[in-house]
Amino acid sequence: MSSKILVTGGLGFIGSHTVVALQEKGFEVVIIDNLSNSSLDVLAGITKITQKTPAFENIELRDKSQVKEFFEKYPEIDSVIHFAASKAVGESVENPLLYYENNLTTLTYLLQELQQKKQANFIFSSSCTVYGQADQLPITEDAPVKKAESPYGNTKQIGEEIIADTAKINKNFKAISLRYFNPIGAHPSAEIGELPIGTPQNLVPFITQTAIGKRKELSVFGDDYPTEDGTCIRDYIHVMDLAQAHVIAMERLREQKEKSNYEVFNLGTGKGSSVLEVINSFERSTGQKLPYKIVDRREGDITAAYADTEKANKELGWKTKRHLDEALKSAWEWQKKVVKEEEEAAQ
Ligand code: WQD
Repeated sequence: MSSKILVTGGLGFIGSHTVVALQEKGFEVVIIDNLSNSSLDVLAGITKITQKTPAFENIELRDKSQVKEFFEKYPEIDSVIHFAASKAVGESVENPLLYYENNLTTLTYLLQELQQKKQANFIFSSSCTVYGQADQLPITEDAPVKKAESPYGNTKQIGEEIIADTAKINKNFKAISLRYFNPIGAHPSAEIGELPIGTPQNLVPFITQTAIGKRKELSVFGDDYPTEDGTCIRDYIHVMDLAQAHVIAMERLREQKEKSNYEVFNLGTGKGSSVLEVINSFERSTGQKLPYKIVDRREGDITAAYADTEKANKELGWKTKRHLDEALKSAWEWQKKVVKEEEEAAQ
């Protein structure tokens, strides 16, 4: 089995941190990225951290012939971590067909190529969004998958079903879907991190852009939820812990005796934090005051979600090592680095 791992979306936020973790574990990485939501600066950042530049192919996964040509060029690749997808909930509501094409058609093209392999290993980037507002907390992997609140969430649910159906009929195909809770933070070197394009939709990049003065103030979407302080609760997981889980999951697939298997794991800290707790943690760990105001709820937000991590702890032997404070501090160090580089480039 080749030690070469294909990472699609490998120049993205979670993808780039996973590439670093794979390289540090001795794997050789090939990245596919169409640069629609990333840049080649990320490849330079990865190289600065590991001193190894992964092979990079600017491939459009929506083009079946380009996917086919890629596997003809790299016939030895039988292990794939698939991050490449559109992931903005709001955008998916406005443009559902873009999401069904970009998140699902591409998945089927990759899986069709892997069906030719003697043995294939596939890791899918899924999301806790498949649970919607779970009936019970913490959320276990056998919690019911509810009707998705957005086309984005639907593409994750359908993507998992496509993979499960493929594993059922292909005796040489093993797969794991990893359901992320809320990934935040950045590599401690501040060479790679989250690079939201335009106005950040997610909480932590909006916090760091507010703290650095790019945004006037943070809008807290509602403080009238049935929670202790009235704000929504989420499970914020450090992207470095998340990256480590992907390496462990890939090693599990490659070492497993079974030739065909499909498993699902939640990746979270197991702890819920409210929006106000995140703000307090940010101010405490960075010393930065954060201007914010309470506004109306955001359409589609659920009250609370945090992971039951027992299955990943037991089966993968993995659990998070990093605390919320550390994740927010790393996000802040990254934000300062980004702004410094923008200012230097403007001179
Ligand atoms: C977190 C909390 C907001 C911004 C989404 C996707 C999920 C995954 C992670 C891809 C909520 C509040 C936010 C702001 C705020 N993405 N908030 N002001 O919605 O839990 O999950 O991103 O896989 O699939 O659904 O994350 O960071 O957008 O929001 O008050 O400016 O912060 O209301 O309670 P979310 P988020």
